[in-house]
Amino acid sequence: MADSADIFAKCRDWTAAREARAARTYPYYRPLTESGGGAEGVVDGRRVVIAASNDYLALASDPRVVEAGGAALRRFGTSCSGSRLLNGTLALHERLEGELAAFLRQPAALVTTTGFQANLALACLLGRGDLLLLDQHSHASLLDAARLGQARHLRFRHNDRADLARLLGASGTGTGSAAGTGAWVRGGRMAVTEGLFSMGGDLADLPGLAATLAEAAPARLVVDGAHDIGLLGEHGRGAAELLGAEGSVDLITGTFSKCFGSVGGFLAGPEEVIDYLRHRGRSVLFSAAAPPAAVGAALAALGIVRAEPERRRRVLALSACLHRLLRELGWDTGSSLMPVVPVHVGDDAACLRLWQGLFDAGVFANAILPPAVPPGRAMIRLSVTAAHTERHLAVIADAFATQARTAVPRARASLPALPR
Ligand SMILES: Cc1ncc(COP(=O)(O)O)c(C=O)c1O
Repeated sequence: MADSADIFAKCRDWTAAREARAARTYPYYRPLTESGGGAEGVVDGRRVVIAASNDYLALASDPRVVEAGGAALRRFGTSCSGSRLLNGTLALHERLEGELAAFLRQPAALVTTTGFQANLALACLLGRGDLLLLDQHSHASLLDAARLGQARHLRFRHNDRADLARLLGASGTGTGSAAGTGAWVRGGRMAVTEGLFSMGGDLADLPGLAATLAEAAPARLVVDGAHDIGLLGEHGRGAAELLGAEGSVDLITGTFSKCFGSVGGFLAGPEEVIDYLRHRGRSVLFSAAAPPAAVGAALAALGIVRAEPERRRRVLALSACLHRLLRELGWDTGSSLMPVVPVHVGDDAACLRLWQGLFDAGVFANAILPPAVPPGRAMIRLSVTAAHTERHLAVIADAFATQARTAVPRARASLPALPR
């Protein structure tokens, strides 16, 4: 059999992971064997400061959240054993939806099993003849929704409202053709962005994007608040609250796996849209419901997010401090001061060596390589949580101080499209 005829041949030919393991610079699937409240732990036999978790508000180990998860587990068992549509809806799911909708000041909410699935559900809104416009740095789940939907999709340059306007202008509604496609856009238009970008740590220009969309009305704005709902804004309603753009966001997606110390996802918005997603979103219909423990934990976490704004303030102060420490050492941590702290490296191999150096120095970080970032834009991603102390930040900074800095390509404005 010719090798190209074997569908598994690509797996044999793909050597990157094997090479990194052989070079002892493989950063992935490292097991955590002991957890010390979120900020410290034992990873692969080494005691480390954990700077790789999205548990920004340190709720995954909060005794109230753990107890609520345990109570739901004891009461309803380990699994819902079916989809929300059929047998998998618990009163707990409905309670969480009600409380979440109230928290986000939205008419309705839908709880899904993961945030990835919440985003995939958007595909059911994307009919033939519609146009989806995605920020170039959008999460893989948003891009996968675009691929699953029937609409044409185009990516606008990262956070670039002028580029969004260009694509909208070229597409028209019933009168123009989608840029570069020649296809007529007969239906509706929707733009999607993240609120706080998961890799770059920068904020979406929600007011600018919203103003651009308003000029092309009716065009909808969907914001994935995975990293900012719970964290940003006076009340924790996310980037849209922080930027005064809540009135311009038509639909919200998010996750319980970051600021809510659990696992699960959600969509929130107009009643009829949520009801449609509930009955048409394939990732909702054809997958088992979020398990009781996860829903119970998320409910307790939501209560804490509302009641304890000081957690947000603490993590934001700590993250500004870490940015400052690293910048003083000469590292490029991007343009924001958010708890998502990108340390731009550039070269993949240099990034893996840096990751290993940090690990050996007692810091567990994330190594982010293409396709999660464009080629040549490898980076270490650190995240700060409310469980960190100034001592932890000093350990992280000391670890970086011992590592050789790598040249960073700075031509951010002309980044190629993300090949995800
Ligand atoms: C921006 C963004 N959206 C969605 C998701 C998916 O969330 P979940 O972990 O709940 O599947 C993630 C998680 O990586 C994310 O970063």
